[in-house]
Amino acid sequence: MKIIKASDYNDMSQKAADILAEIVQTKPDLVMGLATGSSPIGLYKCLIEKYNQKLIDFSKAKSINLDEYRGLSGDHNQSYRYFMNINFFDHVNINTGNTHVPNGLGDDPEKNISDYNTIIEKLGGIDVQILGMGHNGHIGFNEPADFFTKKTHLVNLQESTILANSVYFEKEEDMPRQAYTLGIQNIMYAKKIILIVSGKAKADILKTALTGHITPRVPGSILQLHSDVIVVADVDAMSSLI
Ligand code: GLP
Repeated sequence: MKIIKASDYNDMSQKAADILAEIVQTKPDLVMGLATGSSPIGLYKCLIEKYNQKLIDFSKAKSINLDEYRGLSGDHNQSYRYFMNINFFDHVNINTGNTHVPNGLGDDPEKNISDYNTIIEKLGGIDVQILGMGHNGHIGFNEPADFFTKKTHLVNLQESTILANSVYFEKEEDMPRQAYTLGIQNIMYAKKIILIVSGKAKADILKTALTGHITPRVPGSILQLHSDVIVVADVDAMSSLI
């Protein structure tokens, strides 16, 4: 595991974007595993800047997003499909048909799940996975549990996650209580993982995940077993590690 210390959120975003841009330049038809949340917004901004400066070309790139709320359509302003469009896809030359986010709609979750797993298999897996980490150590929407999950599945969101994410919804009760997420196995099969973490509020969970026991109670702790993880964290997020 390589740990890169950044001075602040902007520096973290720039450093992560530099790493990802280099990979895209080397393998333009790569499969990017992408994340939502506040952590990667700066990274997407930096990638857009690089694209505008003609330093990066996404025309052959493909993407698989980590997760999506159950019950939200892609044009709902809190859906992760919408988030990806407005924060990234709409501003670069990626072919929308090559971008994938789980389908949050429909009354057949099993179909949504198997469709998404089929997409991942057809693409041959993920080359580089961007990850943030939840306050309880979740990655994607893999909440603390008794076992590590395998492939795409539907999860019941935990109270702490509902509390953290409901601020983005008009009313707390508007926030979906379930979400589709890649499983831990999907994430661990990514060839390379870039974990980005910012802020004091994540300092303790980052330390627990990187140096504590490997346990499904702290889903991010599994990353200790991956052979190619780069953690880009700012000084605040690293404050408990030092
Ligand atoms: C969210 C997402 C995760 C994200 C994490 C951290 O709920 N499902 O993919 O990495 O929680 O979010 P943030 O970056 O806003 O702290």
